[in-house]
Amino acid sequence: MIEGLSYSYDGRNAALDGVDLRVAEGELVAILGRNGSGKTTLVRHMIGLLQAGSGRVTVLGKDVSVTPTHELARDVGFCFQNPNHQIVSFTVRDEMAFGLKAHEVDVSEHDQRIREALATVGLLDSLEAEVFDLGKGQKQRLALASVLTLRPRILIIDEPTTGQDPQMALEIFDIIKRLNDAGATILIITHKIDYAAAYADRAVVMGFGQVSFDGSFHDLLGDIELMRSNSLDLPDTTKLAVLLAKHGVPPWLSTYAELEHAVDRLLEASRAH
Ligand SMILES: Nc1ncnc2c1ncn2[C@@H]1O[C@H](COP(=O)(O)OP(=O)(O)OP(=O)(O)O)[C@@H](O)[C@H]1O
Ligand SMILES: [Mg+2]
Repeated sequence: MIEGLSYSYDGRNAALDGVDLRVAEGELVAILGRNGSGKTTLVRHMIGLLQAGSGRVTVLGKDVSVTPTHELARDVGFCFQNPNHQIVSFTVRDEMAFGLKAHEVDVSEHDQRIREALATVGLLDSLEAEVFDLGKGQKQRLALASVLTLRPRILIIDEPTTGQDPQMALEIFDIIKRLNDAGATILIITHKIDYAAAYADRAVVMGFGQVSFDGSFHDLLGDIELMRSNSLDLPDTTKLAVLLAKHGVPPWLSTYAELEHAVDRLLEASRAH
């Protein structure tokens, strides 16, 4: 929970300016917004990487400003925007064991937890690989897997789809959805609005350090002015729906299934005439 959070890196310009955000357990929330709007700054406060200039941040009832980062890291898994800032080991196995050792998880559990987490992200085959040999997308999945070894209740993922091809990006969202279905609360920062709309329950749009929208994708995609003013790209499906709006297709739809359904109805109506 975030109340009245403000923060400035340089003491002059506000990177965050009075942010209020409440996330319930079990939610899957997409955080959107143009470059520099404050998304990363916001989530860094949730694991104590930044201390609030003013306002309050609590996670699972714990005040982040007085809770040791080490303790928060057990509940909150955090994946950095750039996996190179997170990965510290030369081999996949060492990287996977790093968090388990740091948190003194019983050694007898390591192997199973490591295999389970790598399997979740589809990297089990790379258990004996060197990090150096992994591609950017694989590194990102490794960073996610290493966080999963601690079985956090909350996952915060900053831009997991950078450097991933569309198929990989889709797989990442599939993984995130599965983790959410299994009970994890997830905040995902992304520019991939197509996927976010298809997977997330709720959209939070950051605009110049403030929350400029908080609600359903349905309402967000229906507000083209808001999308434009936040430099958000409409999903391709929504662009098509907008073009077809004059024929009665709802302009907010975002999934291919919804679009297909709407087009079927159009075809039926034209046959009936
Ligand atoms: N380490 C830093 N030092 C100084 N200013 C920073 C730092 N990190 C971010 N900022 C500034 O704070 C503001 C918010 O940046 P932030 O990184 O939170 O945006 P973002 O929404 O995550 O952007 P992106 O989509 O590019 O990742 C920007 O004006 C940025 O220039
Ligand atoms: Mg960022």
